[in-house]
Amino acid sequence: MGSATQTAAAELVCFNDGCRARYAITEVLYNCPKCGGLMEAAYGATQQPESLKKIFRERRLNNTPLDQSGVWRYREMFPFLDDYSKVVTLREGNTPLLDAPIAAKYGGLFSLTFKHQGFNPTGSFKDNGMTCGVAQAVRLGMKRVACVSTGNTSASMAAYAAAGGLEALIFLPHGNISFGKLSQALEYGAKTLQVEANFDQILALVRVLAERLGIYLLNSMNPFRIEGQKSIMFEMLDQLDWRVPDWVVLPGGNLGNVSAFGKGLREAKDAGLIDRLPKLAVIQAEGAAPFYDLWQRGSGGLCPVTNPETLATAIRIGDPVSWPKALHEVRNSGGTVEKVTEQEIADAKAQIGLCGIGCEPASAATLAGIRKLTARGVIDRVENVVAVLTGNVLKDSDYIYRYHTGQLEAPGGVKIQSTFGNKPIVVPNDPDKIAELLN
Ligand code: F0G
Repeated sequence: MGSATQTAAAELVCFNDGCRARYAITEVLYNCPKCGGLMEAAYGATQQPESLKKIFRERRLNNTPLDQSGVWRYREMFPFLDDYSKVVTLREGNTPLLDAPIAAKYGGLFSLTFKHQGFNPTGSFKDNGMTCGVAQAVRLGMKRVACVSTGNTSASMAAYAAAGGLEALIFLPHGNISFGKLSQALEYGAKTLQVEANFDQILALVRVLAERLGIYLLNSMNPFRIEGQKSIMFEMLDQLDWRVPDWVVLPGGNLGNVSAFGKGLREAKDAGLIDRLPKLAVIQAEGAAPFYDLWQRGSGGLCPVTNPETLATAIRIGDPVSWPKALHEVRNSGGTVEKVTEQEIADAKAQIGLCGIGCEPASAATLAGIRKLTARGVIDRVENVVAVLTGNVLKDSDYIYRYHTGQLEAPGGVKIQSTFGNKPIVVPNDPDKIAELLN
């Protein structure tokens, strides 16, 4: 598939500065055996930036599956495979940049662009990472893959595992994921276990099981998932003709995505593709905001939230595994971390809907966060801002219906105001009455 690419020697390296132990790229490692630190993929020097930009652009005209993928098109930036023939691609990525004037105004900006990852094959940014995670699983000869998920990772893993002929094992917090996501996992044939525990507790459980049963774990501490999610930034920059925005804003849950964006952007700068970094702003939901708390304290480690609560179930995570990477990336970019309430998320989501765009609740935290950050003067109204919408509007339709009909309640029973509500109207089968109503 596709043209042959240069493969700089790839390795796994411990992310912990005091350790930096190195391992073969084919070892199955999620944490460093020496110090317990997170692992990351590292490569040798890549090609000249002008030649890379040309290759990336030309591949858009190519019909090979690898080049049609908005992830693998950028493969020189994550050359961990030595053979691309077994890559499982559903043509992930290829997600648009959309101008959103109504949302810009609501967020206190002159203009705002959404990078909409909800256009992916399974409707979320997880597909960008999953194609790489599954490629590594296949390369290692794994037969079974597993993840714990708030919904989107499981939908994505189920699809890619099915397409690649692997058995998928999914662990979900019982009662706390949307049906849209759960039903995707079922449809794609994954063995789905609903555990009576929260995301953080199940992740600990799954780590034990993966070790005991020899299953390959595809949560975001898997370094190859992170490699794939870097492509969201490469594609954004390519679409902007390599002009760097001032800010990239994204929701934060387990903090894999911000780790991926930071790494991808640093590597793009090191490769000479860009000459400066955008600032990264991570937005958390108030009831699940341990990273925000850490940012406010300014030092020390992350203090997990034992019972995280938010209707934005995708980011209902109290003990995010990737926080050391995320902290490094946000600091290095000169960025910030903000938190937003349930009401703020719900209203921002309705404003994104009014742009004709739509997204799931977690994604709307971005616009709610932007509104706060412009009000506080952290983001200037003239700055170029790209907000990443992480999931499709249809992922959580129940939430939408409840908001618009005034039935949405925050955890704890507090009513969410239907500020921008748009109730369906029941009418009799009578043209006169309907005409009267519409006049
Ligand atoms: N937005 C959506 C729609 C998500 O599904 C997630 C994470 C996030 C944002 C947060 O990204 O974890 O990289 O900080 N969902 C995971 C899952 C945890 O299991 O699907 P993060």
